[in-house]
Amino acid sequence: MALNIAHILQDDLIAPMVKKTAYGLATTCILGAAVYVGYRVAAPEKHRIRHHRHPELNDQIEKVMDSLKITDDQLVHIMHILEEEMTAGLSPATHKQATVKMFPTYVRNIPNGTEVGKVLALDLGGTNFRVLLIDLRGNDKVELTSKIFVIPQSIMIGDGKYLFRHLAECLYEFMLKENLIHTGLCYPLGFTFSFPCKQEGLASARLTGWTKGFSCAGVVNQDVVKLLQDAINEKGINAKCVALVNDTVGTLMACAYKDPSTAIGLILGTGTNACYIESLDKVGTWDGDYDEPKQVIINMEWGAFGDNDRLNLIRTKYDEEVDLSSINPGKQIFEKMISGMYMGEIVRLIILDLLQQELLFLGHRDTYGDYKTPLYDRGGFYTKFVSTVETDEGIKFSNTRRVLEDIGIRNPTYDDCAIVQHICRQVSKRAARLAGAGLAVLINRIGKSEVTVGVDGSLYRYHPRFKRNMERCMEALVHKDIKFQLTLSDDGSGKGAAMVACVADRSLMTASVFRDEETADYEKVI
Ligand code: BGC
Repeated sequence: MALNIAHILQDDLIAPMVKKTAYGLATTCILGAAVYVGYRVAAPEKHRIRHHRHPELNDQIEKVMDSLKITDDQLVHIMHILEEEMTAGLSPATHKQATVKMFPTYVRNIPNGTEVGKVLALDLGGTNFRVLLIDLRGNDKVELTSKIFVIPQSIMIGDGKYLFRHLAECLYEFMLKENLIHTGLCYPLGFTFSFPCKQEGLASARLTGWTKGFSCAGVVNQDVVKLLQDAINEKGINAKCVALVNDTVGTLMACAYKDPSTAIGLILGTGTNACYIESLDKVGTWDGDYDEPKQVIINMEWGAFGDNDRLNLIRTKYDEEVDLSSINPGKQIFEKMISGMYMGEIVRLIILDLLQQELLFLGHRDTYGDYKTPLYDRGGFYTKFVSTVETDEGIKFSNTRRVLEDIGIRNPTYDDCAIVQHICRQVSKRAARLAGAGLAVLINRIGKSEVTVGVDGSLYRYHPRFKRNMERCMEALVHKDIKFQLTLSDDGSGKGAAMVACVADRSLMTASVFRDEETADYEKVI
């Protein structure tokens, strides 16, 4: 190990020397050689210190890192603000202006593990789109077949009709392969649509705005279930959308199928959001019946927390830059500080800032302009790199080196690696603490002695410390008499939609014949 570092440091010192000496010889320019020697003699200390420094000892770097730190006191303050915003979202008088919308989902029952039936599900929430066939067999048993389809960028930002046409075509292709087309049966379908929607019923939901890089025209304010069903009918597919759910709701439902103490669903992926079970008496915007159970799942849409500037006290210039260069400036401020769509970009901007301040990649000072590094391009540092960099333990930094070389930083020094890892750790820790504080608000509010949080999303799944960092901060913020656990929800966005289709409207599911006025009459399949 020691040899390795010595080797790396030597290389860093020798490489420029060799290069400059060679240049001097080649041009046989005595003046050039003299200037070079003069430079090395005049500034040897500065050169060495910079190459041997430890990140934590460097004041300028620490200043940048400090701007990312959020103290426990600040977290408590943020929790108070979030509670206020939640109250505003739930009250009819303030709902319209509220940033955290707290949409009632019309899902009031959670599954009990006995549900049975074959249900189709569509899962749209990021660049990938999935079609699933879920066979709920009771006794917690679920069989699942699925296929992933890509949503091309042109469709993500094109006209909405092409998006829904594409979804219907993918559904058709899947059903054909599974021999579900022209069977004489109409299959119920749960639609996981992971964008903010004001639900008007279980199978009726108006999109309030796009997030996560989508901006299809003609969809905002429209009923997305209707748009989907029209496209399904246009293609003559024997399926009927009976429920629309947010991915957080699917995650909660899938987790509750196995663990009845589940009361919260959380997504930490391309975007972030949470839902939880709320008592009807706290939901002023509720317009449904007050039958038992007197509760409803609330889709918080917490990604929009801070859209009214209330998080400005903790935002950095990097957050502002990420926001300004996004497709939806001023929107989803909390999401932009937490989720996978933005984390790599925050890290890239910090790296670039340090590089421009000559605090990083010093060995490349003379050369980084010579070749193209994706560090100069928006999106050039992927969020998955953050996870990879943070899996390095100790001082070898083999993963970090690989990442840096991938983005064109050849032979990074020990310091380069340590600083980049330090940046990744601070950015992801801040995200984990913010999400943890949000969860603490919900757990304290639910007030049960035991609460399970179903969690899904690529950031949570693949980041090596996200869960640990969240739990640590939550231990300090959740009331001491409450036990909580974070459980990875197994494919909630897919299974959850099927469960909602089964559970949330049991009356529909117990009817013996399922008739669809708009298409043909089909026999019910569950
Ligand atoms: C959307 C939410 C979704 C979350 C996680 C956000 O951008 O607004 O509806 O639950 O991403 O996918």
